Order: sequence, then C-alpha cells, then structure tokens
Amino acid sequence: MAYDNIILDASGAVGRITLNRPKALNALNEATLRELTMAVREVRRGRIVRCLVLTGAGDKAFCAGADIAAMVDMSAVEARRFARLGHRLMHALEDLPIPVIAAVNGFALGGGLELALACDFILASPKARFGQPEINLGIIPGFGGTQRLPRRVGVARARELIYSGDLIGVEEALRIGLVNHVLPLDEFATEIDKRAAALAAKAPVGLEQAKASINTVADADLATACAFEAEAFAVTFASEDRTEGMRAFLDKRPPGWRGR
Ligand code: CAA
Repeated sequence: MAYDNIILDASGAVGRITLNRPKALNALNEATLRELTMAVREVRRGRIVRCLVLTGAGDKAFCAGADIAAMVDMSAVEARRFARLGHRLMHALEDLPIPVIAAVNGFALGGGLELALACDFILASPKARFGQPEINLGIIPGFGGTQRLPRRVGVARARELIYSGDLIGVEEALRIGLVNHVLPLDEFATEIDKRAAALAAKAPVGLEQAKASINTVADADLATACAFEAEAFAVTFASEDRTEGMRAFLDKRPPGWRGR
C-alpha cells in the first residue's frame, strides 16, 4: 500500500519504517499515526521481515512528538481519540513478534520518545536528544509516556523528565538506561543495519517467545510471570528451530532456522 507520511520497506529480513515529514521534524499527526499502524500490520502480515528498524528522515529528528499544529484546536474528546490512536500504534509495535529497533538520529521528544519506548531497543547517534516536553505546552504525555518511561528508567527519573520537560543528551540517556547504545555518527546507518541483520538471523520462534515473555507479563507477580515463561519455553520445544538449533550445536555446525 502507498503511504504519504512514511516510507515502508518490508521486502527483506531487515525491514525499515522511516517517518518522512522532515520539515515538521517528523511530528506525528493523525494521518501519520494511522499510516504507521497500517505499516506495522503490513510488516506483521508479510512475515518476511525478521527485524524492524524505525527511524526518521532528515538529519535533525527521529520525531519531535505529536504534531502541535494539529493539536492546537483539538477538543478534549478529539484529544482522547488522538491519544488512543497513539496507544494503538504503540501496542501494535510491542505486539510485533520480531525485534524492533528505534534508530534515533536526532530529537526524540514527546510522542517521538514514546514511539521509541515502544521499540525493543533504542540505538542513538551522538546527536540524539530525548525529552517529554509536554508540560511546556500545558499538557502531559499522551502516547504512553507516563507508563513506559517509569518502567524503563524508574519512577524518580521519569518524574524529573515529565515534570521538568527538560531535554537530555546521549550521555545522560545512557546513564539512566533509556538508550541501549550510542553509535558513532559516521557509521550510524551501517552499524544499525549490521545490528538489525544480526538480530534477523536469530531463531524466529525463540525471538517471538522471548519478546512475548518479556512484554506480556511485565507487570504480573513473579510466580505468574514465571508460569508464563514456562509456557513460552515449552512452545520453543515444539518448534523445528529448537530441533535444528540443538542438532546443529551437537554437530558443530551453524544452524539453519526455518522460523517454525
Ligand atoms: N509539531 C509540529 N511541528 C513541529 C514540531 C511538533 N511537535 N516540532 C517541530 N515542528 C516544526 C516547527 O514548527 C518548525 O516548522 P516551521 O519551519 O514551519 O516553522 C520545524 O518543525 C522546525 O522546528 P524548529 O524551527 O522549532 O527547530 P529548532 O531546531 O529551532 O527546534 C525543537 C527543534 C527543539 C525540537 C523544537 O522544534 C521543539 O521544541 N519542538 C516541539 C517539541 C515538543 O514539544 N514535542 C512534544 C509535542 S506534544 C506530544 O508529543 C504529546 C504526546 O505525548 C502525544
């Protein structure tokens, strides 16, 4: 399907969705949220992509947040609908059975940071800047930031970012565990591709079950969460990949994954 606000490449093992509104620093309006959700579903249905990279066009921003021009005249009812559109996208990303990398090449603010937080990994260039500046607009994060940010960096640090609206650079983002790695600027694109390809080459059923186990019961009590893990572990034993992985280890050869 054709998209106006994003670019989707879902033709190979490493897929890519590029937010493509660089003049507005890739801000998220309703059309972009809908297109992103459709693209994520297309990736899921296609079953070709084994690792998805989400990034922003231009050299300035991953995404500067929800589109302020689109929100300026919103009623409360419209704002609720807008927030739910955002939540639907974040759930779709978290629910993808493959790893998703946010390749943050500049600003990741407000809804842009919330988008990155719905990905499995945040890999940043040294230019990246992060923040939840909604308070400076008289609003709060509306695409899951009040929930996913504390889960990622702890409540105390999330409060600081959300109450102050301050932006932080990569050193601080690394220190508080917001980003996984900072990659050199001149090797950013190639290093992202390399890491995505390495993930795409891992056992698909194992990745799916690991992601499900980490995400699905993240907020359950330990006993329930471990019971879920045991079920997910058992699912991997029903896969051809498990037979292949263990045989390959014993035969001292690399495994050939089938994804089933
Ligand atoms: N929405 C709409 N347009 C935006 C935007 C946004 N979130 N962020 C930037 N833009 C636009 C600017 O209006 C500007 O457009 P024009 O050229 O037409 O004037 C263009 O992008 C370039 O931006 P700046 O000139 O401001 O660039 P800068 O380098 O001086 O500053 C910035 C960069 C610090 C990121 C600044 O643009 C900024 O503060 N943006 C807003 C960030 C923000 O508040 N995000 C939170 C939005 S609310 C939200 O996300 C709610 C939610 O959780 C759902």
